[in-house]
Amino acid sequence: MSKKIVIAIDGPAGSGKSTAAKNLARKLGFTYLDTGAMYRAITFLAIQNGIVENVEAVIEMTKNVSLKLKYENGVTRVFANDHEVTEQIRSTEVNSKVSEISTIPEVRKEMVKIQKRMGQEENLVAEGRDVTTVVFPDADVKFFITATIDKRAHRRLVDFQNINVDISYDDVKANLEKRDKIDSGREMSPLRKSEDAIELDNTGLTPEQDLEYLYKKVKEVLAIKKQ
Ligand code: DC
Repeated sequence: MSKKIVIAIDGPAGSGKSTAAKNLARKLGFTYLDTGAMYRAITFLAIQNGIVENVEAVIEMTKNVSLKLKYENGVTRVFANDHEVTEQIRSTEVNSKVSEISTIPEVRKEMVKIQKRMGQEENLVAEGRDVTTVVFPDADVKFFITATIDKRAHRRLVDFQNINVDISYDDVKANLEKRDKIDSGREMSPLRKSEDAIELDNTGLTPEQDLEYLYKKVKEVLAIKKQ
C-alpha cells in the first residue's frame, strides 16, 4: 500500500474549518475525516445512557463502542453500534457536554487510534482540535483556521437556524467562549496552533475564497515535497 497523503486542519469552533475541510476534500478527491463527530457520538451515547458524570462508565463504553463514519453527499453520517446518530450529535445538549467528554484522556486515546488507522488507509483531509498536533503531527500539509469571536458566533447562529434550533446570538457567543476556554485550557491535546501550520484568518473571506487559498497552498507544498 502506498503512503497516503494527509491534510490536517485545526482551529476553534465556528472558524469555518468544517466547510473548508469538506470543500477541500471534494476538490482533491480525498476522504473527509470529521474527528469532532466522533467525540460528539461518544457524548450523545453518554447522555443517552445517563453516564455523563461517570468518567469510568464513559471510558468503558468508549472502549466497547463501534463507531463508523460515512461521508456521503456533503454529510458525514455517523453510526454508533450500527444505529445512525447523525442528527442527534448536533443537538444543543451534545454541544454543551462535548468539551467535557473530550477532555477524558482514555476517550481521546481510543479516538486517536481509529483516526490514525484511517490515515494509513486513505488520502485524508482531517479536521479537528488536535489533528495537526497529536493525531497527524507528520501530516503533509497543516492549516490553522481562525476568525474573530463575533464572526464565529454569527456563523454558528446561522448553523443553528438552519436546523431550526431556537437560540439567541448572546447564548451562542457565550457557549463558544466557554468551549474555547475548555478546549484551549485542557491538559491533554489543548487547542493550539502547531508551529508548522499555515494560519488562515478567514474573518472577511467567503467559503469559496477559503477553498481557493487552501487548494493553492496544498498544491504549492505538495509540489515542493515532490522535488
Ligand atoms: O468540531 P466540533 O465542534 O464538531 O467538535 C466538537 C467538540 O469535540 C469540540 O468542543 C472539541 C472536541 N474535539 C476534540 O476535542 N478533538 C477533536 N479532534 C475534535 C473535536
